[in-house]
Amino acid sequence: MGAQRTAVVTGSGRGIGKATVELLQAHGVNVIGVDLAGADINADLSTLEGREALEAGVRERCPAGIDVIVANAGVLTDDELSIQVNYFGAVETLERLRPMLRSDAPRVVVVASRSVLKPVDHAIVEACLDGDEARAVALAQQTGSPHLLYATGKRAIARWIRRNAGLPAWAGAGIALNGVAPGAVLTPMIAQRDPAEQARLAVERPMPLGGMATAEEVAALIDFLADAKNSKIAGQLIFIDGGGETLMGQEDIWEAMVNKQASTATAN
Ligand SMILES: NC(=O)c1ccc[n+]([C@@H]2O[C@H](COP(=O)([O-])OP(=O)(O)OC[C@H]3O[C@@H](n4cnc5c(N)ncnc54)[C@H](O)[C@@H]3O)[C@@H](O)[C@H]2O)c1
Repeated sequence: MGAQRTAVVTGSGRGIGKATVELLQAHGVNVIGVDLAGADINADLSTLEGREALEAGVRERCPAGIDVIVANAGVLTDDELSIQVNYFGAVETLERLRPMLRSDAPRVVVVASRSVLKPVDHAIVEACLDGDEARAVALAQQTGSPHLLYATGKRAIARWIRRNAGLPAWAGAGIALNGVAPGAVLTPMIAQRDPAEQARLAVERPMPLGGMATAEEVAALIDFLADAKNSKIAGQLIFIDGGGETLMGQEDIWEAMVNKQASTATAN
């Protein structure tokens, strides 16, 4: 048996984060939980102070380094918190903790969402990817379509994963960086929605393989991606929605990439 692995899991207090903590622990991983309160490290990841507390807390508890980061903390809101927590909180979690990853099979998983397939506010996505939190938040506060903000934060983090995963700082340093994109998962986040809204979403956003997911089912995918066994998957956003995404999107999702390569080759 190798040395015990250490994982940092944000949003560890309930839902998908809690199920992930329990599964990792069952597999012998030492887990540092991070949440607003009641966790190993209490930190509000929507704020600079909270992000600093996360970094300092992990440095203090894990002087020898860590092996896994699960950036899971998130909110389902129609305001700027969806940008501050779901995008900037996640990116800062990854960037601040990346230097602490040890060299033996480091793995990073971000919990995004199938909502990446919904319409988004492109100006906010660009502000996010520019790293300009003040601009992204100001745009979010002004937007006339606040219901787009959750999908916007998730689309931005999904693009950040694809932008970064193959670079020297990540795959080049042996770090497998991936995202998971759950459909509807039975957690307190969803339970807070009113029943009529839940019923409407079940029809509009189907989960053909067995209906809504449990937090444990999502945790099992995170656990695999976080394990040393995952030695080659990187930069992927894996939909865990019972096949729903295949009904919502195009069948030939690869042709756009062929066209992009062809136009790049012509330009060169
Ligand atoms: N439940 C779903 O249907 C669903 C679907 C797709 C994606 N997701 C994503 O999965 C992740 C987990 O969601 P969940 O369903 O378990 O939700 P949840 O609300 O049950 O749990 C989220 C956890 O994150 C913590 N958190 C929230 N804001 C935080 C902050 N500012 N700083 C630190 N911690 C904070 C909460 O305290 C909570 O413990 C989220 O990123 C969410 O967007 C959920």
